[in-house]
Amino acid sequence: MPAVTPGGDFYEQLLGEYDQMMDWESRLMRETPFYQKIFADYQVKSLLDTGCGTGRHCFHFANLGIDTVVGTDISGSMIELAQARAMASGSEIAFERAAFTDVADKISGAFDLVCCLGNSISHLKTYDELELALRNFRRLTTVKGVILIQLLNWDLRLARQERFFPPRSHVTPAGEKLFFRFFDFHEELVTMNLLIFQQCTAPLRNWTYRTVSTTLRPWRRDLIRMALDDVGLSVLQEYGGTDLSPYQPLESSDYIVIAHKG
Ligand SMILES: C[S@@+](CC[C@H](N)C(=O)[O-])C[C@H]1O[C@@H](n2cnc3c(N)ncnc32)[C@H](O)[C@@H]1O
Repeated sequence: MPAVTPGGDFYEQLLGEYDQMMDWESRLMRETPFYQKIFADYQVKSLLDTGCGTGRHCFHFANLGIDTVVGTDISGSMIELAQARAMASGSEIAFERAAFTDVADKISGAFDLVCCLGNSISHLKTYDELELALRNFRRLTTVKGVILIQLLNWDLRLARQERFFPPRSHVTPAGEKLFFRFFDFHEELVTMNLLIFQQCTAPLRNWTYRTVSTTLRPWRRDLIRMALDDVGLSVLQEYGGTDLSPYQPLESSDYIVIAHKG
């Protein structure tokens, strides 16, 4: 197995394959009613997506009518991909390289919604980093604005030691790719492993494979809530997924929390 790499490096090694690991069209279609509700409930006109990856949510949010959308990510290659897409489509979305821990120094202005989606926050390993990130999100939020964080429901994953994600196939003219994602649970941290099989073109059609891994902190709900409280953010709403289900510790797939400066 290769050495476990820090969050940013892990995504650098994926070289644009991140988007192949999931069915974005289905994901965005499934998530749309959730975001439309949040945008309506909190009158969101401007939005910052931190840990935006290749910017797929950002483009979608602009299409849903958000006037100002900015995306940030620690990974230079993710941001370059997002910027190239924005330029090719004539989009005005700004994409900037920034970590959760320095985003308030790199981005100016304030947003109605600062979000951190797709379990990205779990890349932060220490409570101090988590607090600094949340303090930055708070600084970047308007007076009436909200912060939305979506992560895996680690309480459930840890209780069940749930290791595996469903495999994913992605077919390209160059051959098929198969993505297998699984966790190794340690005392405090979790290794996320990604095994990628790539089928060669005809006539051989044989398979090669490589693995990449990174370390995550499985933030339980009580620690996220404690950190929000410590930086002066109060919880407004909690959900168990983008299906708008209520958060159930031993059932929900996700933990989604919405907080404000109140
Ligand atoms: C699992 S991906 C999620 C991407 C996207 N938000 C989504 O929902 O599909 C995690 C993203 O967080 C970024 N990331 C990891 N550590 C970060 C950090 N410390 N600061 C900012 N972004 C980070 C990675 O580069 C990657 O793009």
